[in-house]
Amino acid sequence: MSVKINAFEFENVKRVKAVAMQPTEKGLTVIGGKNGQGKTSVLDAIAWALGGDKFKPSEPWRKDSTIPPHLKIELSNGIIVERKGKNGTLKVIDQNGNNSGQALLNKFISQFALDLPKFMNSTSKEKADTLLKVIGVGDKLYKLEQDEQILYNQRTAIGRIADQKAKHAKEMPEYNDVPNEIVSAAELIKKQQRILAINGENQRKREQADKYKKALTEAQIAFEEAKARLSQAEKDAIIAAKSAEDLIDESTAEIEANISEIEEINRKVRANLEKEKAEEEAKYYSTQYAEATDAIENIRKEKYELLNNAQLPLPGLSVQDKELTYKGYKWDNMSSSDQLKTATAIVRKLNPECGFVLIDKLEQMDVDTLQNFGQWLEAEGLQAIATRVSNGDECSIIIDDGYIQDIVKPDNKKEWKAGVF
Ligand SMILES: Nc1ncnc2c1ncn2[C@@H]1O[C@H](COP(=O)(O)OP(=O)(O)O)[C@@H](O)[C@H]1O
Ligand SMILES: [Mg+2]
Repeated sequence: MSVKINAFEFENVKRVKAVAMQPTEKGLTVIGGKNGQGKTSVLDAIAWALGGDKFKPSEPWRKDSTIPPHLKIELSNGIIVERKGKNGTLKVIDQNGNNSGQALLNKFISQFALDLPKFMNSTSKEKADTLLKVIGVGDKLYKLEQDEQILYNQRTAIGRIADQKAKHAKEMPEYNDVPNEIVSAAELIKKQQRILAINGENQRKREQADKYKKALTEAQIAFEEAKARLSQAEKDAIIAAKSAEDLIDESTAEIEANISEIEEINRKVRANLEKEKAEEEAKYYSTQYAEATDAIENIRKEKYELLNNAQLPLPGLSVQDKELTYKGYKWDNMSSSDQLKTATAIVRKLNPECGFVLIDKLEQMDVDTLQNFGQWLEAEGLQAIATRVSNGDECSIIIDDGYIQDIVKPDNKKEWKAGVF
């Protein structure tokens, strides 16, 4: 059970002459009154009584008073806190009636509860850190954010390479009039060699014809002595001449041309292959980029789930870009009542044993919002003691010139939900 303020009484503290009341246990107690009447002095007195010397006002002793300040608070856990004497000496009586001190109070009194503006005025990052501390996921979230940043940087680098590769591939030449693969000259060279072999054979035959022709001449010279051989030689000469007669030499010019063309074709084929490779590379990097995007998305989802599955002090609270958000709004875009609700919820969670919070200057809330806030506090089992420049029905007491003004409650007036009317 969290600790509440059951009752307090203050005399001669700052602007307060004498104020005593029992704030409502759950919900909102509004201390109303005009400016400068002692409303904030009441909250200052509570903070000093419970928070110790660092909450001591610079001039606690009410001017015009010869009697030193006297402060007394009864807490719901049975502890009684008193300050009196010219030094405002602290006296703490524990549940068993024994003397105790500030250390006992510090166990369940939250500094933020006594000084909500300290939380409200902290930076966006500090607020987010406080929330993450409260829900216990800070380390995990920052690890995820670090991973996300690393991936993001990697993806940017990949994206740059992917763009360069795609641009490079696009700029490379491409030929449509060539085969897909490098052409080999071996086949043509083989053909050429075959023809050259035939041509060689032809040459040999020609030379033989010449030889016989020569033999004929010799035979003719030796005609007289070798007439018998003449006719044979004549026959041979005729046959040889005949075999050489129809021979035609085939040209290799075309093949030579083809061979030289191959170089040009292959240059183009190589260019095409290089372009294809460049395009593949560009595609590879673009795939890498898409994968990095997926990974970043996953981390973001994980972050979102981490926060969503955590025990939040208030549904709708989250942390985005290291800043606290409520219903998607950052602090400076929240309504002041949402800011208060958020601050109260977080501060409460920070020290769940402390069941109350002090809120100065509640003027920014209209009566409906105030009522709504009061209902929320009630549902949360939280006690809030607030001040407000007003003398309306929403006020539980009105402070006037350092005293509680007598309020005459009309018979037909219904009890106000969040107040103690
Ligand atoms: N020790 C003190 N003795 C007498 N008056 C004081 C003392 N300290 C502050 N005041 C006066 O109290 C007034 C403010 O009181 P405060 O409780 O803040 O009023 P409220 O919150 O109702 O506007 C100021 O006029 C200030 O000068
Ligand atoms: Mg004030």
